Amino acid sequence: MKPVRATACSNIALVKYWGKRTGVPAELNLPAVGSLSMTLDALRTETELCPASADAFWLDGQLVADEQATKVWRHLDRMWSAAGGKGSRPRAEVRSVNHFPTAAGLASSASGFAALTMAAAGAFEADLSAQALSSLARQGSGSAARSIFGGFVRLDRGEAADGSDCRARPIAGADHWPLALLVVQTTAGRKPLGSTSGMEQCRETSPYYPAWVGTSEADLDAAESALLARDLLALGRVVEHSCFKMHACMMATDPPILYWNPTTVAAVQAVWQARAEGEPGFVTIDAGPHVKVLCERARAEALRERLAAVPGVRDVLVATPGPDATVGPLPEASA
Ligand code: PMV
Repeated sequence: MKPVRATACSNIALVKYWGKRTGVPAELNLPAVGSLSMTLDALRTETELCPASADAFWLDGQLVADEQATKVWRHLDRMWSAAGGKGSRPRAEVRSVNHFPTAAGLASSASGFAALTMAAAGAFEADLSAQALSSLARQGSGSAARSIFGGFVRLDRGEAADGSDCRARPIAGADHWPLALLVVQTTAGRKPLGSTSGMEQCRETSPYYPAWVGTSEADLDAAESALLARDLLALGRVVEHSCFKMHACMMATDPPILYWNPTTVAAVQAVWQARAEGEPGFVTIDAGPHVKVLCERARAEALRERLAAVPGVRDVLVATPGPDATVGPLPEASA
């Protein structure tokens, strides 16, 4: 096992993944719908992996020993078998740092599991394609499958029972279109309900879930075409429609799921007001209270100023399309 350092950027889903496929092995973590994302340069995770006498997981300088660590060890076991490793997996020290401009509940499983996947592949000297790495990352976290690639990425749902056609594919590079994503932070807390439980609750109790799943493929095709044509109005329409359908589906669960706070709503309305005044931005919201705004890079500063002025907004950071995930040898000094 070789000491390595890997880097992966987070991503924002422009067309959302929400829901898991049923009737297939749960450990494959296959999505019920495809998704389309932009990799974000400003939200980056760096993960070092070294041989050790016992497993230890450090996250942002803190030793972690809860279920987060269990997921890390499970993922390393998976990577060890994918690498063709014989016998038990070598013990490892994992040091992961989220280089996010502020630590306000933005830490993401996408960049975390993508970086861990790259690190493990490097450390275990696995000869795997980017496609295979992406599929393995997906088993750690669905959105991580997209963070293996830079630029704009589509993750196909696929139909095969073994998940072999559930693939992430880059549809345009980071330099395809100078877009920006503003991350509007509306609170400092962690999200109240994890995505897996939220998704299951939707599938089991939301009457809107079949409609959510049934309309996703059309959104993906429309978003891909708009992206390739660099048509922001067309892309933005789909982005907002996908986001609000997902949240409507969540709100219609029993009991309801509502990730928003009053500042979330105020920020959305500020974006719509700006748009009415000729400053085009489009909102999306994940399983949390922060608002993400898609716009042209040239308009990002003007929109950032407007959003920073919304009462309750803590900070607004600007991300642009980011690069592929990478792995390399750990520099001597850190090994
Ligand atoms: O990858 P997970 O399990 O954290 O789920 C991600 C779900 C959303 O962020 C809400 C949507 C997405 O496609 O990233």
